[in-house]
Amino acid sequence: MAPPDRLTLKVSAIHCEARDVLVLELRDPDGGALPPFTPGAHLEIQLPGGLIRHYSLCNDPAERDRYCLGVGLARDSRGGSRYIHQQVRLGTQLTVSAPRNNFPLELAAEDYVFIAGGIGITPIMAMIRSCVATNRRWQLFYCTRNRQRTAFYEDLRALAPDRCHFHFDDEQEGRLFDVAAALGKVPGTAHLYTCGPEPLMKAVEAAAADRPPDRVHFEWFTAAAVDTTADTPFTVILRDSGTRYEVPPGRSILEVLEDHGAGVPYSCREGLCGTCRTTVLAGQPDHRDSVLSAAERASNSEMMICVSRARSATLELEL
Ligand code: FES
Repeated sequence: MAPPDRLTLKVSAIHCEARDVLVLELRDPDGGALPPFTPGAHLEIQLPGGLIRHYSLCNDPAERDRYCLGVGLARDSRGGSRYIHQQVRLGTQLTVSAPRNNFPLELAAEDYVFIAGGIGITPIMAMIRSCVATNRRWQLFYCTRNRQRTAFYEDLRALAPDRCHFHFDDEQEGRLFDVAAALGKVPGTAHLYTCGPEPLMKAVEAAAADRPPDRVHFEWFTAAAVDTTADTPFTVILRDSGTRYEVPPGRSILEVLEDHGAGVPYSCREGLCGTCRTTVLAGQPDHRDSVLSAAERASNSEMMICVSRARSATLELEL
């Protein structure tokens, strides 16, 4: 039987892991086993007011009795992390999705290098726990503002202190982590996994530009800026009904479908979470998301309809 897509789980433990970082432990209220997850996976949490937010799982993927999520309090929170920090308590029931993974670990790699900034450590914690459990070769570069804000510091030191390289901005006279110098010592065969704020992600992109793209993996928090000045209208065709809609410049496919009462699932609306991932049956998408890999983009078989547009005059979607 296929696992359910929606789960109602109870907050069975909650603790402050670092300044402005909570870890929630979720369990089945009846003590049942949970659907499995893979390193790098996240859950979508449904919050009041129709908000959906996704948070990375940080516990060992071998565990089947609980999910642990790291939730950083976003300074510019639109309600998601603020609600969780202020309203969610022990015993709160939350409706969540089954685990999904836009940031999977390549299991055939010889070496893993993890680069985390701030709360970007959460998916990487599950990856590290998996690497430790399966005796894989790995190292971590972890940048934070200071020790107070360093989630999982003790866990990491207990797991493998010699493989964890910490960079605390406040202890470096404001000097940022030198990504190029660190990656200069990393073999070309290694798979890099990066999650953190945009400046760190961009620095890794630049320093890893000459590496094979399928060995450089990112989980983005913020959407990349896109030049929309040359956008043109195109037509989207829905396979099930044959309905055609024009998507003008300045409107996304998702917005146009919503205008016509079509209920398509979404969460971030910024091309970050993968919730609106849609199969493309014909036409050429103009990919603007931060979810698909280079190979997935090239295949043009799926797209994020909250941000991506069309290079062709029409796009037919499996909707
Ligand atoms: S809603 Fe998150 S990628 Fe489209």
